[in-house]
Amino acid sequence: MCGIVGYVGKRNALPVVMDGLRALEYRGYDSVGVALWDGAKIKFEKTIGRVASLEEKIARKPWEGKSAIAHTRWATHGKPSDRNAHPHFDCTKSIFLVHNGIVENFSELREALLREGHNFNSDTDTEILAHLIERPFLAAQKKILLEDAVLEGLRHVNGTFGLAVMSKNDPEKIVVARRGSPIILGIGIGEYIVASDASAVVNITKNVVYLHDNEAAALMPSGVQIFNLPDGKASLSKKILKKQIDTIDWDIAQAQKGGFKHFMQKEIFEGPSALENVLRGRLLDLPSALSGGGGGGIKLGGIAQIKEKLLSAKRLLILACGTSYYAGLIGKYYFEEFAKIPTACEYASEFRYANPAIDSETAVILISQSGETADTLEAMREAKRKSALTLGIVNVVGSTIARESDAGVYNHAGPEIGVASTKAFISQLGALAMLALFLGKEKNTVSPALSEKIVKELKGLPNKMKRVLGKDEEIRKLAEKYLKHKNFLYLGRKYQYPVALEGALKLKEISYRHAEGYASGEMKHGPIALIDENFPTVALAVKDPIYEKTISNIQEIKARNGKVLAVATDGDEKIGKLADDVIFIPQTLEILNPILSVIPLQLFAYHTADLLGLDVDKPRNLAKSVTVE
Ligand code: F6R
Repeated sequence: MCGIVGYVGKRNALPVVMDGLRALEYRGYDSVGVALWDGAKIKFEKTIGRVASLEEKIARKPWEGKSAIAHTRWATHGKPSDRNAHPHFDCTKSIFLVHNGIVENFSELREALLREGHNFNSDTDTEILAHLIERPFLAAQKKILLEDAVLEGLRHVNGTFGLAVMSKNDPEKIVVARRGSPIILGIGIGEYIVASDASAVVNITKNVVYLHDNEAAALMPSGVQIFNLPDGKASLSKKILKKQIDTIDWDIAQAQKGGFKHFMQKEIFEGPSALENVLRGRLLDLPSALSGGGGGGIKLGGIAQIKEKLLSAKRLLILACGTSYYAGLIGKYYFEEFAKIPTACEYASEFRYANPAIDSETAVILISQSGETADTLEAMREAKRKSALTLGIVNVVGSTIARESDAGVYNHAGPEIGVASTKAFISQLGALAMLALFLGKEKNTVSPALSEKIVKELKGLPNKMKRVLGKDEEIRKLAEKYLKHKNFLYLGRKYQYPVALEGALKLKEISYRHAEGYASGEMKHGPIALIDENFPTVALAVKDPIYEKTISNIQEIKARNGKVLAVATDGDEKIGKLADDVIFIPQTLEILNPILSVIPLQLFAYHTADLLGLDVDKPRNLAKSVTVE
């Protein structure tokens, strides 16, 4: 949701920020731009389109300079165009800035600035910020530090921002500020890089400082100063902060395609290692005979401190968005089945405005790959205000949800760059299964024998996942066969229902095919009217206790001339006679079936989009990490 990057230091800043933009492009790709201080003036270029368009524009410009800021945009206010591309600047082109977030009081600020005589060059909310920062410079006849002008300007702003600013009035300096949109500072030796996320930083340094909300920093070749944004609107006094330096534990190779055509494809194939990584060191498999019935244990260091409070929770509430929400729906079944705790799963965006009845006896589980999704983050803050215990299941280390939740479980799935989430979903299911088993064991609602069985199966699952991935070519052929269809129904029951929702989401978001995920049992209450020979159904028909019900639903579709592509369990002969096409997956426990059955759906969506020649990793209108509401 917009990527920002800035650099100050000894290298030529232009290639550094261009590399950063390439790493951040997944966050938004409507337009792109850069501003560079060349020692005498600020040069800038911006354009509608992607990083490649900007590269073309600057290819023949021998620009050099020691500080620069750059931006890749996901449009909110103002449609994608050259003039709405960042950086934005003030009336005298002395202040340039890039911004991720939304200025909520944009209209009233714009009116006020127009009355003061400011002129605008774009339709964006961001440009307001440049003019607000210009005002203190004008008032002080330029005798003011850039950071002080930024603080003064931001006093008037309601909304969210992660921003980077440079000014010819106080050159060779970048000032950044954060409220609601992520900012990470890379601390090199005699050089500093700032970005929306770590993927743009790791190339320069692995030493980072995570800026918190209401914090700002001034980066200069001589050092970095971090301070708070003054409280309220009245005061301008800033407090200098001492912050901890963290180390990023992954490297640039993990954020590259590694021989795959697309990041999404690579990340689907990383599913088995994503599962291994989330399980690593957390499964204790002492045989029950030796451990007096204590086998199949789960060790979750991240929740040790809040264990008692968690165990005393009367209810659980899972909050998330998109794919993470679908993982949460499966988690609800896990918690009720194993820990016998009443559990609800809601969209974070709905929860926030529903005046939810939760209290200190509720434990709220936030699931988020990025840890920065605005709706999930605000839902967590709302839950905290209501005294609920908050737990994050988060992939990005150091992200806001990870930091602000009371406790949590990291996914350790590595960077997920493809906009469509794949390996994170697998990893979230692994984390949820462990958490549910942990609670079940502590509450004695899961027998040691069952726990041991699940732990053993979890350990063997990555190999079974690899067998499903081995069907890649077969699934590509099926995608080719179904390519002419524009509408799909995805059906599943119980554990397979959220998988159906996730499969449909994957297809629609990257191939722009209409796909509807539905609970199999609900089909007869409406959607069955859609079925004919042109409206195929992807049916999740794995061997589980409700298999026969699913088969009946497939019969109903076939009776109406509907085509059926089924995902079924190895050795199932019945399904082959019924469905038009079948993708077989290995047998596993009912609760773990989703981890296997989602893979063919991820691959089917991937190949459909690829065969259609679409931009798989950067689908239209979307962006990774939705940091606006
Ligand atoms: C779909 C997808 C989105 C995200 C959603 C939540 O493929 O990627 O639906 O799952 O935006 O994002 P996180 O998990 O980062 O909070």
